[in-house]
Amino acid sequence: MGQNGLGRLVIVGIGLIGGSLALGLKAAGGCREVIGVARRAQTCEQAVALGIVDRAVTDIAEILPELEAGDVIFVAVPTLAVEGVFAQLKGALAEGVTVTDGASVKGSVVEAAANVWGEVPAFLVPGHPIAGSEQSGVTAARDDLYIAHRIILTPLENTADMHVQRVRSMWEAVGAEVLSMPVAEHDEVLAATSHLPHVIAFGLVDTLAHDAENENIFRYAAGGFRDFTRIASSDPVMWRDIMLANRDAILKSIDLYTSNLGSLRDAIAGGDSERLMGVFTRAKAARDHFTKMLAKKAYTEIMEAKEVTFVAQPGGAVKGDMRVPGDKSMSHRSIMLGSLAEGVTEVEGFLEGEDALATLQAFRDMGVVIEGPVNGRVTIHGVGMRGLQAPPGPLYVGNSGTSMRLLAGLLAGQDFDSELTGDESLSKRPMNRVANPLREMGAEVEAGVDGRPPLKIKGRNSLKAIDYVLPMASAQVKSCVLLAGLYADGETSTTEPAPTRDHTERMLAGFGYDVRRNGARASLTGGGKLTACHIDVPADISSATFFMVAASIAPGSDVLLKHVGINPTRDGAINILRAMGADIALQNQREVGGEPVADIRVRYAPLKGIKVPEDQVPLAIDEFPAIFVAAACAEGETVLTGAEELRVKESDRIQAMADGLKILGIDAEPTPDGIAIQGKGGKEGAAVFGGGEVDSLGDHRIAMSFAVAALRADADIRIKHCANVATSFPNFAELATGAGMNLEVC
Ligand code: S3P
Repeated sequence: MGQNGLGRLVIVGIGLIGGSLALGLKAAGGCREVIGVARRAQTCEQAVALGIVDRAVTDIAEILPELEAGDVIFVAVPTLAVEGVFAQLKGALAEGVTVTDGASVKGSVVEAAANVWGEVPAFLVPGHPIAGSEQSGVTAARDDLYIAHRIILTPLENTADMHVQRVRSMWEAVGAEVLSMPVAEHDEVLAATSHLPHVIAFGLVDTLAHDAENENIFRYAAGGFRDFTRIASSDPVMWRDIMLANRDAILKSIDLYTSNLGSLRDAIAGGDSERLMGVFTRAKAARDHFTKMLAKKAYTEIMEAKEVTFVAQPGGAVKGDMRVPGDKSMSHRSIMLGSLAEGVTEVEGFLEGEDALATLQAFRDMGVVIEGPVNGRVTIHGVGMRGLQAPPGPLYVGNSGTSMRLLAGLLAGQDFDSELTGDESLSKRPMNRVANPLREMGAEVEAGVDGRPPLKIKGRNSLKAIDYVLPMASAQVKSCVLLAGLYADGETSTTEPAPTRDHTERMLAGFGYDVRRNGARASLTGGGKLTACHIDVPADISSATFFMVAASIAPGSDVLLKHVGINPTRDGAINILRAMGADIALQNQREVGGEPVADIRVRYAPLKGIKVPEDQVPLAIDEFPAIFVAAACAEGETVLTGAEELRVKESDRIQAMADGLKILGIDAEPTPDGIAIQGKGGKEGAAVFGGGEVDSLGDHRIAMSFAVAALRADADIRIKHCANVATSFPNFAELATGAGMNLEVC
């Protein structure tokens, strides 16, 4: 027996697919013996000589009597030849022998089995390794072909678990990842992702080969031709069989593609530059992210799957000038308003982080042509207030609460249905806070269990204006209602219990929309229009805060944070750190595109604990994880109250920080709406934190805060689950190490 309980492996058809499984399994010690079956004696001899199989026969009937429970027969012949092999197996298999196959079409394999056996037998596990190449034949076999490749199994209801498990562990033994899906779904997905591209490649090369000038064409054809047509060198018999076996699904894909090619042709004929840009930018974005798109996952989920750990080494100081990435809140809004404006909006300083990119992708999915981002520059071809198109599927916004809540408001005003989904963290966050006011406006919004995502929004509703008094200080809720108000009949207004970031109001005004503001109340009248403009997004004060805290706690530090947005609804961190004794100077204060901006110079200064004024809480809402690190380095106690909102951010930030701080030796007591932290500062530069392993729970701001803490630690701080730092601050590690922190990304 092999290590995984597999007996013999019989490979029927010793080509690239069958031969590679044989080689991989032998290398992994995954079975007792490999027997090959090939039509031609020469292939059998070659397979033995190459060490692919232990022995080989031309007639399968010869070896069937030897087989016993635990053995596996892998049928790796062209799709339409599968039925002939099944016919030979009929009545000749011992109890407990498993049969599986590698054909690209599963419907025809299941049909072949039913033709032969009368019903699909419980020992047949239809499967498809997604690992082919244009090469074929016994000499193409490789022992590493399946490593990190996917195998799709399509077991039926009556397929026995034991056989499915056996096939699964066989593939896992050669390093593959095994997935299951229904037969029909497999055939549709493969028609679109594999079979259609082969039709096009074969068809294109054949068209060019018939051209009288074909010699010239092939002589001068360079990269594009080579990359695009590689698969036209694939085995013709195999592909003929696939086309015939998966006829209906392939025809559906060809028809869709033909109609799209037709409209591309019209765009070229009519000189329709915008339509061409639309297709090309959407395609480029999809190609750049195609793995994620195939998996129907957004950027963040893939990043998390990668698993990133920060190892922050103790000591150091931060020095020098730096510009942290663009403001996340403004980046989201620039895409939303730019898309709905009339004309072309140019954005500079756009945050190329996963969250803002999720918003950008959502608008591309709704038909907006968006060029970039390239070095923070984005060009948005606005479609006007009524120009969005129904997206092809759910809009996946990853980790981004801002995307989901603001988009919910805009989508409630569209005349098409939509659905918003997010990653694991976002799927736990409360959405009734936006669903409720939208319902009051007459929108039909359906949330998941307990008011969590996904959000399903029914189109075709006319919205009615409301006067909404916010139950909590939330800029996302305020923005959601105001954005829905753009589509409502009459004047919509919001009244907030405490000032929250006002970028929506400022940016709407920048796009020429009349927003009236009176104290806590903001109102606008629906039915107006937005006019494209130029947006300069300043650096994000939330990202800058990590370096403000770093410089404040590490003796010898002196940093200049350039072009940072210091909007008074966002400057709580500056006020709180100053109250703790931080040395923060605002230089070169100016106004850029309706937003106040400054260069912020921060030098080390001893800190003392404070009672954080509650009116500062909404103004520093995202900065508390970093402020808690400053509090631990201060002399005396810091007490935060009135901050229960922190419990429903990307993680429960009160608990996550309290847990991590305790691991690092700090006395931190969480309360329902805040925390009390006993600072260990006092002696200049002395270590405050012990080393240890903390968990960021996939929350970007928790991860970066603990990295900063290492400046005052006496041993390494290992921080788990840091991939989501890319949602708001993709180059954090680079800037941190450049400034003098000792941070390793593993
Ligand atoms: C944001 C508002 C804040 C903030 C979030 C971004 C925005 O959330 O925490 O990171 O862009 O409107 P709340 O409005 O829910 O407090």
